[in-house]
Amino acid sequence: MKGLKTVITGTSRGIGRAAALKFLAEGCEVYGIDVLPSTIEDARYTHFVADVRDPASLPDLEDVQALVNNAGVQNADDIAVNLEGTINVTEKYAFQPAIRAVVNVASASAHTGAEFARYSASKGGVLAYTKHVALQIAKYGATANSVSPGGVLTSLNAPVMENEEKWKQIMGLTPLKKWATAEEIAEWIYFVAVVNRSMTAQDILVDNGERDNAKFIW
Ligand SMILES: NC(=O)c1ccc[n+]([C@@H]2O[C@H](COP(=O)([O-])OP(=O)(O)OC[C@H]3O[C@@H](n4cnc5c(N)ncnc54)[C@H](O)[C@@H]3O)[C@@H](O)[C@H]2O)c1
Repeated sequence: MKGLKTVITGTSRGIGRAAALKFLAEGCEVYGIDVLPSTIEDARYTHFVADVRDPASLPDLEDVQALVNNAGVQNADDIAVNLEGTINVTEKYAFQPAIRAVVNVASASAHTGAEFARYSASKGGVLAYTKHVALQIAKYGATANSVSPGGVLTSLNAPVMENEEKWKQIMGLTPLKKWATAEEIAEWIYFVAVVNRSMTAQDILVDNGERDNAKFIW
């Protein structure tokens, strides 16, 4: 959407970078926040090096219309980054009349618990917090939803993507026998943030069928 003022966290690589490129391709004005620098070069992209754990480091931006909480880690400070960081950033930008949509990147593990303990718990918290935000921003006509990816081909998963044995086991769990790309998750995020106007307080699971891989033994 042309000129949509969008804040995305974790834009230096992976899903966040792909989301920033998708929103830019659709004409949005994107403000990226990451602890690392960015290689995105686009006149409509502004990058801020900041830490979602530290509200004082977040840039002052007026009248944000779309917010994507994507920054996340696995196994190091999960609750502080994935859950408290999402809350910090949402409190900074979303509770004001210009807001149209908040999309939080959760995880399939919020549904299954099949991940490291604090990671799953942080993402379960993101699902509950998303519903809270939806109730708070409905008065502005805005929606809040989450997208829960299963496995995505990003550097977050290098330890298992680069391990032949583990990769074989993972593909055995996934009915569609593949993981999603960061670009596909970015399409979902854009759809939920911009195309969607009536779904709120919901979660979209994009996991290649892994959660519902039930077996029929006869
Ligand atoms: N890759 C997957 O399989 C997968 C699956 C489910 C959910 N997710 C979620 O998707 C999101 C993005 O994951 P990814 O795979 O693209 O990871 P990634 O590691 O490739 O990218 C994460 C980005 O977040 C940034 N970041 C980390 N801590 C930060 C902080 N404190 N403040 C600001 N920025 C910070 C990193 O610098 C990095 O650029 C995360 O929330 C992750 O939990 C990923």
